Amino acid sequence: MAYNLKMRLWRGDKSGGELKDYDVEVERGEVVLDAIHRVQATQAGDLAVRWNCKAGKCGSCSAEINGRPRLMCMCRLSDFEESETITVTPMRTFPVIRDLVTDVSFNYKKARQLPSVELPERKPGEKRTMMQEDVERGQEFRKCIECFLCQNVCHVVRDHEDNKEAFSGPRFFLRFAELDMHPLDTADRRERAQQAAGLGMCNITKCCTEVCPEGIHITDNAIIPMKERVVDKKYDPLVWLGNKIGIR
Ligand code: SF4
Ligand code: F3S
Ligand code: FES
Repeated sequence: MAYNLKMRLWRGDKSGGELKDYDVEVERGEVVLDAIHRVQATQAGDLAVRWNCKAGKCGSCSAEINGRPRLMCMCRLSDFEESETITVTPMRTFPVIRDLVTDVSFNYKKARQLPSVELPERKPGEKRTMMQEDVERGQEFRKCIECFLCQNVCHVVRDHEDNKEAFSGPRFFLRFAELDMHPLDTADRRERAQQAAGLGMCNITKCCTEVCPEGIHITDNAIIPMKERVVDKKYDPLVWLGNKIGIR
C-alpha cells in the first residue's frame, strides 16, 4: 500500500549545505535507497548518492539515517512509522564530496599501510593444512564488505579529526587480527598495530560492532584478542613464541 513519506536529505558540498525536505510516494516494503531514488527521479535529478548492488554486499550506500550509521539499501521503511520523517545525512567522519556522497579515501590510505601476510617458503611437495577452528575464525573477518560504517562511528576519529593520522580504525584492526591469527604467518605485527595503527587509542566502546551490517564481532573477536597479544608480548615473549608454534 503506497503512502506519502516525508524525507529530509542533506544537500550540499564541501563548502557547506543544509537539510532539504521532500515528500515522496513509497511502498511499505521498500528501503530507504528506493525512496531516495524516487526523489532523484521525480524531484531532484542532481541529487548525488552512491550505491551499486542494492543487496547489502558492495558497501557503497553507507549514510546516517535518523542519526544512525546504516546501509541505505538494507534499511526498511517498515522500520519507521509512516508519519515519521526520515532524515538522511552523509557519513560524518569523512569529507563530503556532494550531497550523500563522502570521500572515503582515508580508508584506502590506511589499507595501503597494512603489513601483508608473511608465509614461510613452501618446500617441494609440502602440504599445508589448517585447523578448522583457524579457518572459521578468519572467515568471520572476511565477511567485511568495506562499508566503513565502523570507521565512521568510532569516536576516536569521528570527533577528533587530528587523530586520523595515528589511527587506522576498527576495519583495519580486523585485518591486523586476521593476519596475526593466520597459523602460518611469521610476522610479528603487534608493535605496529599498537603504535603506528593506534590500537592503543581504542578504548573498547564497541560502537563499531553495533553498526556492522555483517554482524562481525569486531571488538570481541578482533580488537580485544589483538590487545591481549600486545600485552602478551610486552610481558611475556614466550607466550608469543608459543602462539606461533601452536601451543595456544
Ligand atoms: Fe563495514 Fe563491518 Fe567491514 Fe566495518 S567491519 S567496514 S562495519 S562490514
Ligand atoms: Fe572505536 Fe570500536 Fe574501539 S568504536 S574505540 S574501535 S571498540
Ligand atoms: Fe551495495 Fe547498499 S548498494 S551495500
